[in-house]
Amino acid sequence: MTRQLRTEPSIPDGARVAVVGAGGRLGRAFCDALAGRATVFPLSRRELDLASPGAIRKILGGLDFDQLVMTAALTAVDHCEDEPEEAHQLNAEAPGLIAGICEARGARMVHFSTDFVFDGGKEGPYTEQDEASPISVYGASKLAGEQRVLAASSRHLVARTSWVYGPHRPAFPEWIVAQAVAKDSLSLPAEKLGAPTFTSDLVDMTLRLMFPAGGEPAAGIVHLCNDGSCSWRDWGQACLDLAAAAGVPLKAREIQPGTLGDIAAFKARRPVNSVMSTARYADFAGQPPRAWCEALAEHLSRSGPILALREPALP
Ligand SMILES: NC(=O)c1ccc[n+]([C@@H]2O[C@H](COP(=O)([O-])OP(=O)(O)OC[C@H]3O[C@@H](n4cnc5c(N)ncnc54)[C@H](OP(=O)(O)O)[C@@H]3O)[C@@H](O)[C@H]2O)c1
Repeated sequence: MTRQLRTEPSIPDGARVAVVGAGGRLGRAFCDALAGRATVFPLSRRELDLASPGAIRKILGGLDFDQLVMTAALTAVDHCEDEPEEAHQLNAEAPGLIAGICEARGARMVHFSTDFVFDGGKEGPYTEQDEASPISVYGASKLAGEQRVLAASSRHLVARTSWVYGPHRPAFPEWIVAQAVAKDSLSLPAEKLGAPTFTSDLVDMTLRLMFPAGGEPAAGIVHLCNDGSCSWRDWGQACLDLAAAAGVPLKAREIQPGTLGDIAAFKARRPVNSVMSTARYADFAGQPPRAWCEALAEHLSRSGPILALREPALP
């Protein structure tokens, strides 16, 4: 990728963007951000089922787009462990098919992938050059999807992200606050490290890569997360501190340090360290991502007072 000066995304008049996964957390954030700035084709599961190659060909063949953002995936990590064929179809075969359709019509594709492609054994942040070595069916299916997308075109972009949350669908922050409202004591793994990422920032970073003010759009693999890293326990604690400050009545105020092994419900193995370097993004965009704690504070300051009323969502 070539170095850019720090700029806002420069979306040309007449840009036509298809968003696959438009009903999901990230897909909805893309649709909101692009509204009024581009012609958007929102495709939720109802319009386009990744399980049906025929439907994918028919629906995409009938749309006139020049960019496609692929946010749809089978994201239930433990379910993937039980249903490896479904995971492979939705997370590997379908993105590969879509990537080929995009290439054939001269459209670029941005495909979202995950920190779960890494085994978590590295000390320090993973770069785009580090070997991916997934330890779960979900991670393996997402890695296979990356490989198919990149094999279809050298112009496609694979954006790996981690610990995603945002206003359009409850995620870990809403879940941990609901837990703290309901329970007296909580613990979370203190050895598991990563980078929480706010959908609003993730969309903004992606648009800078898709629509740079000068030069070619980014291609290949790039890591896109908020800046910095923390343990799962510290992420939860930050959520509780912000919720308490917003007036949410918490029974548990402190999260005790636990380990991944304490969570019996997890079928899939999770990477212990999945911090990813965002240096490549910063080089392209001319600025680093925003710090994760600032982004989290913005999210929870908007949603804090209603947090306790939401349905708990498993992370
Ligand atoms: N969430 C995270 O922490 C995280 C971390 C790293 C990477 N990622 C990646 O980021 C991307 C976006 O994740 P997200 O947080 O937005 O997840 P999400 O809210 O679960 O969105 C995924 C979307 O995919 C749709 N989908 C599932 N099966 C489908 C099918 N058969 N056909 C069509 N659509 C289908 C879902 O439809 P429904 O709305 O009907 O469920 C949902 O709207 C994914 O590629 C994910 O792997 C996420």
